[in-house]
Amino acid sequence: MLYGNEALDELGIQDGINEVIATTERAGRINAAPLGIIRDEDSLYVRLFLGTHTYENVLTKGWFVANITHDAWLFAETALEDLPPEYFTRREDLPVLKDAEAWGLFKCETFATDIIIAKVELVKGEVLRKDFRACNRGANLVIEAAVAATRYLALRTDSYFMELMKMQRIINRCGGPREREAMDRLMDRIDSFTHKR
Ligand SMILES: Cc1cc2nc3c(=O)[nH]c(=O)nc-3n(C[C@H](O)[C@H](O)[C@H](O)COP(=O)(O)O)c2cc1C
Repeated sequence: MLYGNEALDELGIQDGINEVIATTERAGRINAAPLGIIRDEDSLYVRLFLGTHTYENVLTKGWFVANITHDAWLFAETALEDLPPEYFTRREDLPVLKDAEAWGLFKCETFATDIIIAKVELVKGEVLRKDFRACNRGANLVIEAAVAATRYLALRTDSYFMELMKMQRIINRCGGPREREAMDRLMDRIDSFTHKR
């Protein structure tokens, strides 16, 4: 087990915005959603937008688990939907994604406004496996598409939808079956939430 902010590098949390999947828990229910941890050397914070389960859970409990993973499919899936219980395991009694490459428990000091900007601190974490793979533009774009999808659903700005259509063409060309499936599922969900297509 690794402890404290000194372990950030080892857990793969670097300067800039670290896209992770945050797991939180409330009333026995595990929630998973993408979240950006912003690191500037030793300072860390997150921006949580009002109206999400993650916002509610972090505000109430004061912690989240950051799951570090390369799996773009998981980002797309958790951006718009919940994951069923079989996707989770427990480490040190905390909710962790079974497929995470590493996880870290972050405690948050929140100062509430309409978005919470919370200063966060690594309590402890663990590397579960070291994974490497070549960069894939399709996988990177699935993560970008998941961001655009959440913004499109929140704001209904047509430019996000146009971006999504463009990203889908590149994902179909550069991604593998898992990336193509992730994008198809994202577009199907947008369709069912908005009847856009
Ligand atoms: C890559 C990525 C990064 C995101 N980062 C944040 C973030 O830093 N803060 C936030 O509030 N929402 C962020 N979101 C949006 C939330 O994940 C999204 O609103 C989600 O539906 C919240 O789910 P929940 O209600 O289960 O918490 C991000 C989405 C993606 C795809």
